[in-house]
Amino acid sequence: MNYIGSKYSLLDFLHETIKSVTGYKDGDDYIFGDLFAGTGVVGSFYKSLGCKVISNDIQYYSYSIIKHYIENNSSNIRTDLFDYFNNLEGVEGFVYKNYCAGSGSGRNYFTDENGKKCDAIRIELERMYRSGEIDEHNYYFYLGSLINSIDKYANTASVYGAFLKHIKKSAQKTFILEPLQIIDGQLGNVFNENINDLVKKINGNVLYLDPPYNARQYCSNYHVLETIARYDSPVLLGMTGLREAGKQKSAFCSKREVEKVFEDLIANANFEYIFLSYNNEGLMSLDTIKSIMSKYGDYSVYTKDYKRFKADKDENRNTGGNGTIEYLHCLRKKNNG
Ligand SMILES: C[S@@+](CC[C@H](N)C(=O)[O-])C[C@H]1O[C@@H](n2cnc3c(N)ncnc32)[C@H](O)[C@@H]1O
Repeated sequence: MNYIGSKYSLLDFLHETIKSVTGYKDGDDYIFGDLFAGTGVVGSFYKSLGCKVISNDIQYYSYSIIKHYIENNSSNIRTDLFDYFNNLEGVEGFVYKNYCAGSGSGRNYFTDENGKKCDAIRIELERMYRSGEIDEHNYYFYLGSLINSIDKYANTASVYGAFLKHIKKSAQKTFILEPLQIIDGQLGNVFNENINDLVKKINGNVLYLDPPYNARQYCSNYHVLETIARYDSPVLLGMTGLREAGKQKSAFCSKREVEKVFEDLIANANFEYIFLSYNNEGLMSLDTIKSIMSKYGDYSVYTKDYKRFKADKDENRNTGGNGTIEYLHCLRKKNNG
């Protein structure tokens, strides 16, 4: 998934730095927290290395994906339902009625055919789960797969802040539900909470933090995926069809609030080591991060040059310079409980 802030291409850097700071080797059995999990790529990687992973995200679409990566392995899921779902007759459900042009919604996020197909799969998946035909492991395997697959057919420049007027090439193709990868390893635990609440209830060895860096709220940029995941028929607002964000608005996207919630998080984290990804263009300055983290133990920082996320790459525009630097701030906590 092309996700704002995805650490897919930074995994090597994270892995090497975390290894050298902590001394933990691949295959060691320790608890790794990935509590701003997004696509789940970091936690999945640590699960595959042998860790017990605790994963969390405030967005439900993300939760649906990480539930699968972290709480499933090849022995607790069935992979035989993809043909069945892909052959379902389209249904004029919430997606078609609200996000497709043919319904008269005025929105153009998916072709009519793909919107109806998405509805058919989402409705049938819910029915099968509620009737007990599939269990919770399989529910999230197929729900996560649906979110990850449908995103490839979205008629957007990249995120769901707006749709394109004309249906772009990749969105014209007929939508096919494809399985998420299955990550074998120890089964972990997954949450869908505000991190500042969750952190007080868990503990572990290595905590990886990858908060939003700027004012762009994930609930606004991925609202369509949130609604497909929840399928809760929300009231949609305005041309773009935003849902009411409510409690999903992140304080980490607010210049006024970020320092307070960040310090609260560091203070309450019962982990031996904390690693924070942040770049040089974020809401908190490097000095602020350093002074907050240093209060709680031994601090160090590592950097890596990184290519900028291009939100509008399909339109071949440039979002600016390429000078973004990724930082990995490290803390060995003192008096860790
Ligand atoms: C930079 S992205 C994480 C990307 C992830 N590491 C990856 O590689 O895909 C930040 C994530 O934090 C989540 N988030 C923002 N505020 C949060 C909060 N207060 N509690 C929990 N998750 C939050 C967002 O929904 C988003 O998925």
